[in-house]
Amino acid sequence: MDAISVIRAKRDKNELTDAQIDWVIDAYTRGEVADEQMSALAMAILLNGMNLREISRWTEAMIRSGERMDFSSLPLPTTDKHSTGGVGDKITLPLAPLVAACGAAVPQLSGRGLGHTGGTLDKLESIPGWRALLSNEEMLAVLRDTGAVICAAGDGLAPADKKLYALRDVTGTVEAIPLIASSIMSKKIAEGTGALVLDVKVGTGAFMKNLADAQELARTMVGLGKAAGVNTVALLTDMSTPLGLTAGNALEVRESVEVLAGGGPADVVELTVALAREMLAAAGVHGKDPADALKDGSAMDHWRRMIAAQGGDPDAELPVARERQVVTADASGVLTSLDAYAVGVAAWRLGAGRARKEDPVQAGAGVEIHAKPGDKVTAGQPLLTLHTDTPERFEYALEALAGGWAVAEEGTPFTPTPIILDRIG
Ligand code: URA
Repeated sequence: MDAISVIRAKRDKNELTDAQIDWVIDAYTRGEVADEQMSALAMAILLNGMNLREISRWTEAMIRSGERMDFSSLPLPTTDKHSTGGVGDKITLPLAPLVAACGAAVPQLSGRGLGHTGGTLDKLESIPGWRALLSNEEMLAVLRDTGAVICAAGDGLAPADKKLYALRDVTGTVEAIPLIASSIMSKKIAEGTGALVLDVKVGTGAFMKNLADAQELARTMVGLGKAAGVNTVALLTDMSTPLGLTAGNALEVRESVEVLAGGGPADVVELTVALAREMLAAAGVHGKDPADALKDGSAMDHWRRMIAAQGGDPDAELPVARERQVVTADASGVLTSLDAYAVGVAAWRLGAGRARKEDPVQAGAGVEIHAKPGDKVTAGQPLLTLHTDTPERFEYALEALAGGWAVAEEGTPFTPTPIILDRIG
């Protein structure tokens, strides 16, 4: 077998055989297939697609490239959530301890920010002392003791995906449904969770800009999960406007703690509770309702134990940025849109995200939102507060925000977009 014949086959719109897929993933992981050959193949897949058999074989080959975790020694069923990435998407932070408080175990392997979308690990690292890197034994111990763990995937888990994802990021091949589905599901299946809820984001701030593409991605991932014995469902959720009132690392931790204390923005609470109910149902756990666990303090108890078990101080002051700039509304009326992508890019440029993968992030940087679509605004009132340690970044953030919201005359009819747009299971 050789890489050129596999590239040519996909370039010429042929189905790849099982043997071709197994060989190319294995040879790429071992370094026998070069990055430029895999880039060409990824582009051919992006342009010409793969059918379900090919996607499923590709996913299996990526799983086989590394280890599989095993949580069968735990006394509780395991259930996990994966979001395809959004702006202000801090949901994992309150969700993992909330589901643990309701009686399931949550082994949550998470990632860092990618482009304009924030990363759960970057957010949690703003808590003094908190560690994302755990050995498999430490991960299991935290899970056993606190019911939930949020940590980085180890190098042994789907190494083919790690290599391929980094390559796709720099070759314009991220947005291929077969490659996204196999990338996400290879990690989740190798992680060994019994149940999985996918939060597939739709809108300007998401990879999937329209509902039809998001439905296709969700159907593909749900099919891959079920075929591998993972009870998988997907919620398709709105990402045309940021979730909650913050985008940034420490800013989002603060908002998550408000949710765990029984408060927080309504959209974050609604989505957290909906995903928690799905995760518990998928795991077959029917006990306390998640809405009650937010009110009675049990979700907060699990959060504090989970953070402390990973070296964090749940009572520590969170970092704040050195500089702030307020952005005001330029007209009076009803705010009809606040674009998720514009806010995400602004937060990224303020220092909440990275330009290159080795760059540090600023814990305090980001965007605070004072009005959401549907709110009445008055000219001159604060709409956003920008936070950064490096004030020269304000100019670039303001550029990103230009045209990022719309205000219509008071009385203009406004129909809010529901948070949950569809469910596939
Ligand atoms: N997240 C992943 O893990 N993989 C992708 O391809 C896209 C988002």
